[in-house]
Amino acid sequence: MKLIVGNQKTTLNRDAVLKFIDEVNLNGVNDVVICPSYPYIEIYNSKSKFVVGAQNVSEKGNGATTGEVSAEQLNSFNVKYCIVGHSERRKDQKENGEMLYNKIVNLLEFNIKPIFCVGEVLEEKENGVTKDVIGKQILEVFDKLDVNKLNDIIIAYEPVWAIGTGLTPTNDEIEDTTHYIKDLVNDKYNVNISVLYGGSVSKKNVDELNQIDIVDGYLIGGASTKADEFNYIMESNV
Ligand code: PGA
Repeated sequence: MKLIVGNQKTTLNRDAVLKFIDEVNLNGVNDVVICPSYPYIEIYNSKSKFVVGAQNVSEKGNGATTGEVSAEQLNSFNVKYCIVGHSERRKDQKENGEMLYNKIVNLLEFNIKPIFCVGEVLEEKENGVTKDVIGKQILEVFDKLDVNKLNDIIIAYEPVWAIGTGLTPTNDEIEDTTHYIKDLVNDKYNVNISVLYGGSVSKKNVDELNQIDIVDGYLIGGASTKADEFNYIMESNV
């Protein structure tokens, strides 16, 4: 079974979150992860069976960092996963390798699994440099981390041009890039890393995507905010 992770971004208000929880049906599927906005973490904990993740974490520990949420605070709310380096944050918050490294170190200290996002923009795909881009994004962070901790990290391959666009790479392209990521991490650090695919995963394409055995799961944006879409995706993975 593939790991399903929903990234709800800032799409839903409180009422919409409660409605989603009411309509969603885990149907015995275990370990489905939902990453809501911070204020909803406790609602998911108390009212749903989802494993709860976060969409971001502070680069720093507890203290004088107004507006941030630390890894220790997330851990105290039973958060088990955290997205790191989503392309929206790399772009809008100018997150770079050093910041992402700091976030991952903090998360690992508090036993939260980082879901580390990598992916190329359209121009890079068209120029045939997808693997160079992804390789650099991985190595600039992984090279500095303790090799013994790499097992606790999950990589999410998310082509930036596929996020929220309805476009996806072909199954062969996803398979090829996933192989590249796994081989890179294995050759360099001797670690079998899990790789999720993300970018316009939906009810329409999930059955086809499920045929890619090497992919360990999905990071799902838009479709994780609509109960009927998410129910279908979960059921297709039982
Ligand atoms: P999407 O988003 O499924 O809406 O394309 C994926 C993501 O941003 O993680």
